[in-house]
Amino acid sequence: FGEKTTAPAPPVAELHLHIEGTLQPELIFALAERNGMELPYQDIDELREKYEFTDLQSFLDLYYANMAVLQTEQDFTDMTRAYLKRAAAGGVRHAEIMMDPQAHISRGVALETCVNGVANALATSEEDFGISTLLIAAFLRDMSEDSAIDVLDQLLAMHAPIAGIGLDSAEVGNPPSKFERLYQRAGEAGLRRIAHAGEEGPASYITEALDVLHVERIDHGIRCMEDTDVVQRLVAEQVPLTVCPLSNVRLRAVDKLADHPLPEMLAIGLNVCVNSDDPAYFGGYVDENFEQLVKILEFSVPEQATLAANSIRSSFASEARKAELL
Ligand code: HPA
Ligand code: ZN
Repeated sequence: FGEKTTAPAPPVAELHLHIEGTLQPELIFALAERNGMELPYQDIDELREKYEFTDLQSFLDLYYANMAVLQTEQDFTDMTRAYLKRAAAGGVRHAEIMMDPQAHISRGVALETCVNGVANALATSEEDFGISTLLIAAFLRDMSEDSAIDVLDQLLAMHAPIAGIGLDSAEVGNPPSKFERLYQRAGEAGLRRIAHAGEEGPASYITEALDVLHVERIDHGIRCMEDTDVVQRLVAEQVPLTVCPLSNVRLRAVDKLADHPLPEMLAIGLNVCVNSDDPAYFGGYVDENFEQLVKILEFSVPEQATLAANSIRSSFASEARKAELL
């Protein structure tokens, strides 16, 4: 599980990845032991039994609980290096990695500890794993905007090496417009802006993220398919949508992979790419998402090449790096 030795062509960029969602059960147990913590599970099998999700919230509950094992800078570095190693084996050559600072400081871990731990691993990702990387601070939309602004200000004050901000966690009832001031501030600070929208929330959240938050990319976005006006706009503006097929199945945003809208989204000219979201929880890294798309939805080699090229073009990598990978 999780081991991979051959990298498929062509190169891909992973643009939708929560680093905390790469925490594999084996590492959860190893870190708990290293930190002298008791887990509420006897063994890895008992933990794995919890990976049956009914919706986004049922996943988030386990995702936040398991993060408790992340205590030291080294813990964050080890988790990040484990992801980079596995992603490299699966053909990822550029990764834009989200982390959830509020999920760590709210349980007493210093902001410096979590940010530096992840950033230390990213600083040598190209030499060590052949993956160019950048870091995105994601804010929890079920918390207040004031909390998010406070953390953003701390990140800016400490000159944290972040390239942008994102918005994740419980979507329904927490629309993008709740974070208008946060995104304005991030824009003024020169940060790139992305947001989850249209995963469980309605297509109107996608429009709001574009118009109110001025995001450059939408994470998920699959529910755009319920509104032809939104689809038309996304096609016209070629807004990148970071789609996560196995995540959508595991969180029941779609019933089964055979029903996933990705083939139609690609066919009508939406700018879509394939990502893993939380690979330790959803049964697959990027290469495994591609494998399943080929197996179940019969994606052709040219279609796979388009998805891969879209991921590179939609990234925030330098033009030189993009040219290298395309
Ligand atoms: N959706 C929303 N929030 C998240 C996710 C997701 O898939 N993963 C981690 N936080
Ligand atoms: Zn996500």
